[in-house]
Amino acid sequence: MTDYTPRKEDKFSFGLWTVGWEGVDVFGTAVRAPLDPVEAVHRLNDLGAAAVSFHDDDLVPDDAARQHQLERFGKALAETGMVVEMATTNLFSHPVFKDGGLTANDRSVRRYALQKVLRNVDLAAELGATTYVLWGGREGAESGGSKNVGAALDRYKESMDLLCAYVREQNYDIRFAIEPKPNEPRGDILLPTIGHAIAFINDLADPEIVGINPEVGHEQMAGLNYAHGIAQALWHGKLFHIDLNGQHGPRFDQDLRFGAGNLREAFWTVDTLQGRYDGFVHFDYKPPRTEDAEGVWVTAAACMRNYLILRDKVTAFRADPDVVEALAAARVDELSQPTLAAGETLADVRAEVFDPDALAARGLAFEQLDQLAMEHLLGVR
Ligand code: GCO
Ligand code: MN
Ligand code: MN
Repeated sequence: MTDYTPRKEDKFSFGLWTVGWEGVDVFGTAVRAPLDPVEAVHRLNDLGAAAVSFHDDDLVPDDAARQHQLERFGKALAETGMVVEMATTNLFSHPVFKDGGLTANDRSVRRYALQKVLRNVDLAAELGATTYVLWGGREGAESGGSKNVGAALDRYKESMDLLCAYVREQNYDIRFAIEPKPNEPRGDILLPTIGHAIAFINDLADPEIVGINPEVGHEQMAGLNYAHGIAQALWHGKLFHIDLNGQHGPRFDQDLRFGAGNLREAFWTVDTLQGRYDGFVHFDYKPPRTEDAEGVWVTAAACMRNYLILRDKVTAFRADPDVVEALAAARVDELSQPTLAAGETLADVRAEVFDPDALAARGLAFEQLDQLAMEHLLGVR
């Protein structure tokens, strides 16, 4: 039996807001007591995680206690060897952000949002985080006339350009990662998918230090394939960070533990990441409201365990001689061959004689390959 104990080198990371979620949702109040970030660091360390991430307000909910809180947190990191790998800004909880932060119609709100981001970017740098996430949960609208989308993108770009210039000036070892989401809490959120976000990044002044932080459930809420999405992000060199969790298709953002929901896509997600992504494996999920304080740690451990089980399954799948054969039958490697050989021109293609009916008669045997993947996943191979 393989050992699925998480190790530091697995680089598992959790947001303080994940295990710290008190369970407040649109229909109900908190079901769990607030979790001290110091306890979160110790418990996650005991479970084998390597890092944490936070929103400014998760770590310092009360500004009056800022210094004290930062000292306690720093001590917990030093005692455990846990690191802060990512930080982000809460631009969605306070009522001031009801129409967004960096793209709010109200200019004063935008200026306040930028100030809040800057302050936490400084803290992120101080704590050694190398990724700074921007999740624009409230950057969006419920109705057509209320938001000039072009102007909102201008303002988003303005802020991103200023932030990139700031990080360069300060010589911070920080890259930004934009996190797409189609809706919730806004009816429609700007930069709703991986594709929208990457296109936006390409129009920034300093695209080199801006990438994306795609979340499993957010793509699946839009009916999209997360594994394909991150494969494209990798192709663009833009997969700076990941938010792993679980989701049952298009519906509200479930934020289930990793592996729950669409398990097959979780398998292909791990397969896509293997050997191609070396950043922190970050979980952004919410322990369901049914769980008590101890149940939270069961879900956190399960996120890591499921990742390790899937990594094992994926490795076995790729090493299986039957899979190697099925991949060849499916011509998967042939796709890596350029359509034109070196030195060939379009004239060569025009001159070639094809028999489309004969080509059409060739089966691709994709089902055999997929069945093998399924059997690995189901544990019968
Ligand atoms: C969500 C989002 C958030 C963000 C996080 C970072 O579930 O809608 O994932 O959890 O990732 O707040 O700002
Ligand atoms: Mn989510
Ligand atoms: Mn997220």
